[in-house]
Amino acid sequence: MSIKGEITFPGDKSISHRSLMLAALAHGTSRISNLSTGADVMSTRKCLEACGIRIQDYGDEVFITGEKFTDPKLPLDCGNSGTTARLMLGLLAGQGVNATFIGDDSLSNRPINRILDPLSKMDLKSESQQGKLPVTIHKSNLNGTHYESLVASAQVKSAILLAGLGASGETSITEPLLSRDHTERMLQGMGVELFTDGLTTTVSPLKSFLSPFELTVPGDPSTGAFFAAAAAMVPRSNVILNRILRNPTRIGFYSALYQMGAGIDCLNQWDEAGEWIGKLNVFHQSLSGISITKNDVPGLIDELPIIAILATQAEGKTKVNGAEELRVKECDRIHAICTNLKRMGGEIYELNDGFIINGPTKLKGAEIETYHDHRIAMAFTIAELVADGNVVLDDPGCISVSYPEFYDELARLKQ
Ligand code: S3P
Repeated sequence: MSIKGEITFPGDKSISHRSLMLAALAHGTSRISNLSTGADVMSTRKCLEACGIRIQDYGDEVFITGEKFTDPKLPLDCGNSGTTARLMLGLLAGQGVNATFIGDDSLSNRPINRILDPLSKMDLKSESQQGKLPVTIHKSNLNGTHYESLVASAQVKSAILLAGLGASGETSITEPLLSRDHTERMLQGMGVELFTDGLTTTVSPLKSFLSPFELTVPGDPSTGAFFAAAAAMVPRSNVILNRILRNPTRIGFYSALYQMGAGIDCLNQWDEAGEWIGKLNVFHQSLSGISITKNDVPGLIDELPIIAILATQAEGKTKVNGAEELRVKECDRIHAICTNLKRMGGEIYELNDGFIINGPTKLKGAEIETYHDHRIAMAFTIAELVADGNVVLDDPGCISVSYPEFYDELARLKQ
């Protein structure tokens, strides 16, 4: 069996969330194509609709008409989506909306104080359940502030910048390392006064309504990573990833894959609506272990589960450090990776902030605990391709959070 063919992905999840939120702020109707098809982006859409924003589908396109936000009648259900909860909190705080945010069990256990602390510095009145959801925010006159974030998190940065759009005075945030910068690029593209100086980004309040826009969302490099990894690991494999996002803050996985020795050619690259997009050819070659440290982590944070699978097939040691943020994702991903790889016969050692894997090992089939985490489910489905025996997931359906087409597309490329 090998993995062969071309694949085009639904829109990047991070850009999809942001495009809906920013279109909701614009005066008029925006048109978005290739929006992410996952449940997370649907959660953002439903939250916006509950705040009076009109969103309609025509064929594959979505039309969003910005309005003044209204208070939702019911709590806003963010489902499994951390990006929905955190960015919507900032956005609605800046628009003077009264709202309560809820989520599923996983989201209700993830930290939200990292957003509420800076927003309370901006004078937002809110209550939470000891730093977790449910959170209620009350209409408040926000004042701009400067915030030094201890975590390199695009969700924290974006929430503050979105709140700053409705504050009086400038709002700025400094992060310890550069996290994904889609919010900045999109706001600048819409004509918002926003400046970046090193690790500090400053935004001015909106003086007028934003103009609507048209956007075709680039393919999601984080879902592309699972197919690139499959092609890299399985002998005689080769996949072409079409129209994939190549933003410099999102290509960490592809750089790591190259460094491990995989075949990877960029066939074409172009700039579209302020983002780099490319066509990549990824093919099998023998792999060696690499070292991933704190500075690398923001650029490949969501891809670390699949990097762990690759590491089991690489010659030598792969060490991941500085990735403690993995413990507060959709599940504790360090624990999930270590528990499941051990079941498959991998040689892995858990660290507080990462893991060490010695390879190569012949993996064996096993029952996998997904912790209802889409990226754990997809990573271990790919692991089955290089294992003797079957991988049985306890919750295969959780992949629909980001990529409902995953199993069908993988089946199509298997030869
Ligand atoms: C995201 C930022 C990252 C990432 C998440 C999406 C975003 O989270 O893990 O999947 O769209 O801003 P953090 O900002 O918390 O690291």
